[in-house]
Amino acid sequence: MTQNRQIAVEFRDVTFSRNHRPLVSNLNFSIYQGEALVLLGRSGSGKTTTMKLINRLFTPTKGEVVFDSIPTTQWDEIKLRRKIGYVIQETGLFPHFTVERNVGLVPSLEAWKPKQIKTRVYELLQLVGLDPGQFAGRYPHELSGGQRQRVGVARALAADPPVLLMDEPFGALDPITRLELQQEFRRLQQELGKTVVFVTHDIQEAFILASRIGLMYGGELVVLGTKEEFLQTSSAGDSRSQHPEKLVFLQCLRSLQDNI
Ligand SMILES: Nc1ncnc2c1ncn2[C@@H]1O[C@H](COP(=O)(O)OP(=O)(O)O)[C@@H](O)[C@H]1O
Ligand SMILES: [Mg+2]
Repeated sequence: MTQNRQIAVEFRDVTFSRNHRPLVSNLNFSIYQGEALVLLGRSGSGKTTTMKLINRLFTPTKGEVVFDSIPTTQWDEIKLRRKIGYVIQETGLFPHFTVERNVGLVPSLEAWKPKQIKTRVYELLQLVGLDPGQFAGRYPHELSGGQRQRVGVARALAADPPVLLMDEPFGALDPITRLELQQEFRRLQQELGKTVVFVTHDIQEAFILASRIGLMYGGELVVLGTKEEFLQTSSAGDSRSQHPEKLVFLQCLRSLQDNI
């Protein structure tokens, strides 16, 4: 199915090293337009590094990352970043800016007219489930964790970037709020048709959000496929379906379910 779709981002034989030590190696895969690719893996497996190679916070030591048919190293950095929304766990909201100013940040950098910015900010706050009348004038410290993450998502969407990178954005939330945001975000992603790369160490979250799951282990992408493929452990002739790390994650998923 994904075969006929346009490629948004492509990793071509990418290795990234620091102090002669590879943090990720031999990454070869494509991210298709409109898909929700979840990078799953335990802590330290290279998920964040892979993300940062997309928005050029890192550049490959070997190989290339191609965004919209152009290697990231050939992109104007600012133009590239404007095409990529970025949401992280600690939302990175400016504490001394109101919600309205935080969400309107990129549009104002792009010199939109104030009235246009305000309209966009209000529209985005509605979209992420925050009443603008109530929240636009608040400061980040006047919000709950869940509300802050909603503002973070609104801000990342502000200039309508085609690609969203989300690095464990819901990791610090209580389980109920987290589930709410996961479900809303999934609906939103399908509605807006954005290309999303979502990083998590939580296999349940991966199953809620993904169209495809990429499993990282020791800096390599060891499994990549649909959720159905991820659940198959015995397709003949495909040694990747048997990767021990995948079996560990599936075991984890089963014990979570068995304990209910
Ligand atoms: N700036 C850095 N310099 C050196 N090593 C790093 C840096 N950032 C991350 N690492 C190391 O690279 C590996 C992958 O890290 P990371 O991509 O952050 O993993 P994950 O996001 O999956 O937890 C880890 O071993 C980590 O300690
Ligand atoms: Mg990380």
